[in-house]
Amino acid sequence: MSPAQETNIPTVTLNNGVEIPQLGFGVFQVPPEETQRIVEDALEAGYRHIDTAAAYRNEAGVGAALAASGIPREEIFVTTKLRNGEQGIVKEVFQRSRDALGLDYLDLYLIHWPVPSQGLYVQAWANMEDLHADGQIRAIGVSNFLEDHLDTLLKSARVVPAVNQIEIHPTLQQRNVAAKSRSLGIAVEAYSPLGQGADLGADPVRKLAEKYDATPAQVVLAWHLAQGTIVIPKSANSGRIRENLGAVSVTLTDAELADITALEAGVRIGADPATAAFTQM
Ligand code: A2P
Repeated sequence: MSPAQETNIPTVTLNNGVEIPQLGFGVFQVPPEETQRIVEDALEAGYRHIDTAAAYRNEAGVGAALAASGIPREEIFVTTKLRNGEQGIVKEVFQRSRDALGLDYLDLYLIHWPVPSQGLYVQAWANMEDLHADGQIRAIGVSNFLEDHLDTLLKSARVVPAVNQIEIHPTLQQRNVAAKSRSLGIAVEAYSPLGQGADLGADPVRKLAEKYDATPAQVVLAWHLAQGTIVIPKSANSGRIRENLGAVSVTLTDAELADITALEAGVRIGADPATAAFTQM
């Protein structure tokens, strides 16, 4: 039995029939020089879904880990993202990402941020639709899209995004964006699912961890999983990489889920997608 089977990670079926492991491994803020080692460790632990981005500057490290693992390509789900400053040259930079990752095809390619002030995301989407039609990407989606960005995109989209990856954790749930995404058939994927660690000390989280002989991170991830949300926790620590996989074995009651949901506080850690206009990302 392979490690992935042992960890029993559920999958979510996207709107085009593609299956994505619901618990993946994110490499935001993983330094390029440590990425290969850390991703190899995550693959060994049993993760079969890796989430990177051109902007993280660690695609090559992810690619090296994928190659070194010897795991068949089709058993690993790989996501990368279009950098903001490159929305006008999608086809060129997609090939660059694919080469850095050493892959023939990508499982999921996302527009990283809408950058409304740039006015390029609709055109970028059309280019991604072409790559998808070409078979170079199994699914295409967006990240950091708020409701009005989804509305604008869908006016001319031929393909409904498969995923909207947004910041979600107990103290920032973006419930309206998540509900709208789901109503359109767009799967919701949470980045910073642990609030970058900040939400782990909350009272109900600590109490539930004690009750279930679990850790706070496992409780928070179990809360996400119970809502059908795809999660990509990041850790550079071998023990915590494995600990986070244990979330799939934690089942909370409806009342317990509601106690965590009640932690909503509108605390955004990352940038506000309505105004974020950085081009280095
Ligand atoms: P580290 O890399 O030292 O493990 P998020 O995925 O929400 O962005 O959170 C990532 C942050 O949370 C990182 O700082 C990471 O630190 C920390 N983290 C990841 N997993 C755990 C865990 N199981 N327990 C405590 N902190 C964690």
